[in-house]
Amino acid sequence: MKKTVGFLMLITVWAMFLACGQAGEKRLEVFTWWTAGGEAEGLAKMQEIFLKQNPDVEFINAAVAGGAGSNAKAVLATRMQGKNPPDSFQVHAGLELIGTWVVADAMEPLNFIFEEEGWLSKYPKGVIDIISQNNKIYSVPVNIHRSNVLWYNKAIFDKLKLKAPETINEFFAVAEKLADNGITPLALGDNGIWASTHLFENILLGCLGPAKYRGLWNGSTAWDSAEVKDAIKTFVKVLSYTNSDHAALSWDAAAQYVIDGKCAMTIMGDWSHGYFKAKGLNPGKDYGWVPSPGTSGSFNMLSDSFCLPKGAPHREIAIKWLKVCGSKEGQDAFNPIKGSIPARTDADRSLYDIYLLSAMDDFAKNEIVPSVAHGAAASEAWASKINDVMTILVSSGNVDDAASQFQALAAKYAKK
Ligand code: GAL
Repeated sequence: MKKTVGFLMLITVWAMFLACGQAGEKRLEVFTWWTAGGEAEGLAKMQEIFLKQNPDVEFINAAVAGGAGSNAKAVLATRMQGKNPPDSFQVHAGLELIGTWVVADAMEPLNFIFEEEGWLSKYPKGVIDIISQNNKIYSVPVNIHRSNVLWYNKAIFDKLKLKAPETINEFFAVAEKLADNGITPLALGDNGIWASTHLFENILLGCLGPAKYRGLWNGSTAWDSAEVKDAIKTFVKVLSYTNSDHAALSWDAAAQYVIDGKCAMTIMGDWSHGYFKAKGLNPGKDYGWVPSPGTSGSFNMLSDSFCLPKGAPHREIAIKWLKVCGSKEGQDAFNPIKGSIPARTDADRSLYDIYLLSAMDDFAKNEIVPSVAHGAAASEAWASKINDVMTILVSSGNVDDAASQFQALAAKYAKK
């Protein structure tokens, strides 16, 4: 008996020792999908600042490759279900955060950090609004990205004396000229189907304008209306000007096609700018940009943020990480490399290049609309169903089928 009690005590002490050991471990696991050029370097900058402040912490970069989180999100969901969260993970501000993780009661509110750090006056109110529910703030945004950008190879455009297309009609005219000259007009890399959804959201915005585009997400624009069907038809026509191997490529491989002159343009978020710069290109000289066709005056936005999941194994260290993410120093180190503008309003403009300064100015004066391919407009459940319809649309080109399926999804998910 005595022996058994002694043994049990030993086991208990050992278990307590192990538990303390874990809690006392100086580790931080940060989960993202930032592995491509520009993304990886941007994250490394924030890691560097964190490690300078916390030199005794082991930083575990748990990035899972695949643009827009196409692989990472599934890995994350499994971990969260298995009660094995990372200390902090990348999540898009908007409904991906609120309609997915906050409704699942998986996130800690972070108002205390915003108050302690004086951030409530440093972030625009509109950004605080999309990361909040019932006055509780649930993540720390590091940036603002723009979805609706058309990037083009300057050498090709100069040689053929082309002007960057600003309307949908101009796009088709330019695409025809490029095709006549043996150049594939538009690069697409949709081995993660989100890249087609990305192109699609910007065609929708270009065809419908910002008010009706917004209506797609609040239920006031019918997806099976004649004008949305026309936009879907336009999208299918745009697809016919893309590279035939698009299903085998990632977004960054498609951007590389533009660098290499295999294609002349790509419609992709401004992480492409981070990618082009990571490859040594010069903005404004080697490549140019315009708002994607028909979207001038609108800023299709998304924001990457970091959060504190409930049960984070190293909560106190994760809080220190979040403080780097929300700091001016962190954002001014990360964003010029990532190709995004800071989510804070007090950036040091002298650190930003010609494209990013134009994005800052547009963000301040344009109509802001939410991206669906990047978690701002719809919950993860709705967005992933949209991606399923997209997979079929890209291969079938069947506009009526897609319209009625999109409408059925909106009827289920859109909040009026
Ligand atoms: C977006 C993300 C960006 C960029 C892009 C491509 O969803 O917000 O930061 O990483 O995916 O991976």
